[in-house]
Amino acid sequence: MDHSTDTPFPADYWIEPTRQHRHAFIPYRPEIVPIAEGMRRGKKFCKFLDTRRSVRFFSDKAVPQEMIELAVAAANRAPSGAHFQPWTFVAISDPAAKHEIRVAAEREERSFYHERDIPAWRQAVARLETDDNKDFVDVAPWLVVAFAQKHTPMADGSLRKNYYVNESVGIACGFFIAALHAMGLATLTHTPNPMSFINQILKRPSTERPYILFPIGYPARDAEVPDLHRKSVSDSLIVVDGQSTARLQQPE
Ligand SMILES: Cc1cc2nc3c(=O)[nH]c(=O)nc-3n(C[C@H](O)[C@H](O)[C@H](O)COP(=O)(O)O)c2cc1C
Repeated sequence: MDHSTDTPFPADYWIEPTRQHRHAFIPYRPEIVPIAEGMRRGKKFCKFLDTRRSVRFFSDKAVPQEMIELAVAAANRAPSGAHFQPWTFVAISDPAAKHEIRVAAEREERSFYHERDIPAWRQAVARLETDDNKDFVDVAPWLVVAFAQKHTPMADGSLRKNYYVNESVGIACGFFIAALHAMGLATLTHTPNPMSFINQILKRPSTERPYILFPIGYPARDAEVPDLHRKSVSDSLIVVDGQSTARLQQPE
């Protein structure tokens, strides 16, 4: 379909809202993007995401703290249940603290890989060739731990229950990962199991649960990643449009 001249709305589309509210509301005025330009941006964004990979081989080249702050700022722009934003990110560059976490993570992974009988899991991750060696925790200049706040302590001493915590923190971590990638940084979504040792090491309250460990840095010069292929749109999208055949297009 030719969308080259389509625009969803004319430039004078926006009007002054007249609704009455009990709380503060502000007009929402995003950019009006012509359809062809929107598709161009969508394809560009897909191509950009296509170059993101989970990295397990890092360079020790320093990464400015401002880049970590920018990634957390991106995470803070994620939607969340009731806008409670139930996350805390702890960024560690102290080699001693990183090493303490590495040792504890390797202890958990060793028992996971060697002591527990988990043939299905072993088979599922075989092609990643991961093992209990987590030297990337020492090598990568930053280790950022995302914590999920089951409850949040309030100024009056009460504990606020948070809603849709898993979903909210997952989306925030997605924004975080995308922002790192946009800055040319690499990371790994690392989830040693169990992770409760991290609360003790980082002195986080029991209201927070370690969610993901992100080693962050630049890829090593000889970095490699497993040769994986992503699902196609036709394998992951079902269109219910009242017609018999859905016509789905892959981004080029
Ligand atoms: C929730 C979650 C947990 C993961 N945990 C680990 C992990 O503990 N160790 C690891 O090496 N990779 C882990 N990964 C990374 C996946 O193996 C990786 O995303 C997958 O193989 C696809 O590769 P890609 O990220 O390069 O596209 C995890 C990914 C997700 C989303």
